[in-house]
Amino acid sequence: MFALGRPRRILIPRETGPSKRWGNPQPGHAPRPVRVAELRRETADAVTLVLEPEDGVMPAFRAGQYFTHCFEIDGQVVRRAYSLSVPEGGGLACTIKLIPGGWVSSHVHEALQVGSRYRLIGPTGDFLLDEGKGPLRFLAGGSGITPVISLIETALERDPQRDIRLVYASRSEADIVFDQRLRELARRHLSLDVVHVLSQPQDAWQGQRGRLDSQRIRGLLGADPATTFYLCGPEGLMQLAANALHAAGVPAARIRQERFLAAPNAQARPSEPQEILFKQSGRVVTQRPGESILEAGLREGLPLPFSCMVGGCAHCKLQVLEGEVALSEPNCLSPEERAAGFTLACSACATGPLSVAA
Ligand SMILES: Cc1cc2nc3c(=O)[nH]c(=O)nc-3n(C[C@H](O)[C@H](O)[C@H](O)COP(=O)(O)OP(=O)(O)OC[C@H]3O[C@@H](n4cnc5c(N)ncnc54)[C@H](O)[C@@H]3O)c2cc1C
Ligand code: FES
Repeated sequence: MFALGRPRRILIPRETGPSKRWGNPQPGHAPRPVRVAELRRETADAVTLVLEPEDGVMPAFRAGQYFTHCFEIDGQVVRRAYSLSVPEGGGLACTIKLIPGGWVSSHVHEALQVGSRYRLIGPTGDFLLDEGKGPLRFLAGGSGITPVISLIETALERDPQRDIRLVYASRSEADIVFDQRLRELARRHLSLDVVHVLSQPQDAWQGQRGRLDSQRIRGLLGADPATTFYLCGPEGLMQLAANALHAAGVPAARIRQERFLAAPNAQARPSEPQEILFKQSGRVVTQRPGESILEAGLREGLPLPFSCMVGGCAHCKLQVLEGEVALSEPNCLSPEERAAGFTLACSACATGPLSVAA
């Protein structure tokens, strides 16, 4: 079924088309060696890594962006995206929540020490600050506070009077990441309002409690069309909030979201194994039910590039030569790339026999 021949190489600069999701990916960045200068425990399952560039040059980044962290674990390089948890110009740090059974987060919590060395790629991402003067509303859940605190601190440094409200959902008081930092910020800035909502608080908790539903979210965030809304947290909470804001008439352009996990597949992944020919290496890999093209290739040891794993950076872009794929939405492919047959290996799966130019 595979038509052999020279793979077509069409290079499309990403600048030519607007990214559907995060825009401005910068796949050309070379990995940058860093050293862990400090490990700061924030809660029982969240730790902040303060990093020092080995070459002494602090990388420029914008509030809300992330780096791809490349760790060597059991002889393999494993990459994960972590948002910066410091304001612009505030050094280099990220805050990582332990996911039970998680490969990288367990490594960070159990094996990293002051002096550990690894590499960063980036920065990437356009979960960026609205540079206007309008009000800002943030909804964060769990570790979703990391890019949010970077944005809030940066916004207040630029305009100490900016009207900002943060609604932060956590399980209990002990799980609130950056509790002291947020208290101190709110003490210094009367224009900042921090509302904690705890799902399992102690009896003595005086603040908001219980689950957030659409009505509560609207009540807490409002729906002013001149406000910019930022959502980062568990997928269900973000979806609920985005729907509630849309239904209240907030324009889509005013709702910014950062996903830590891949969006749910728009199309169900095939339940049958599928064969994929990777033309460059000549290898045929069997994609197992539930796997993406990237997962299948990596499992078989193919050196495929990737970074965010959730359709946001385009590092894993590859061209389909023959066959059909199902691609999750949203993702960052431009219309030109789609038209030229590109897909994202991390977010697509073969729905029949497939040949790709990689
Ligand atoms: C743009 C971006 C920014 C991110 N920023 C941060 C950050 O600042 N802090 C942070 O802690 N994480 C952040 N993440 C998530 C991070 O990249 C990893 O996905 C996370 O640390 C889990 O990796 P792991 O190797 O430990 O788990 P894996 O071994 O990859 O996964 C183990 C299991 O946990 C599930 N899982 C993975 N991630 C999560 C999650 N976040 N919540 C619940 N279940 C999960 C997986 O589906 C899988 O079933 C970010 C992700 C993206 C895409
Ligand atoms: S790895 Fe980032 S889009 Fe696929």
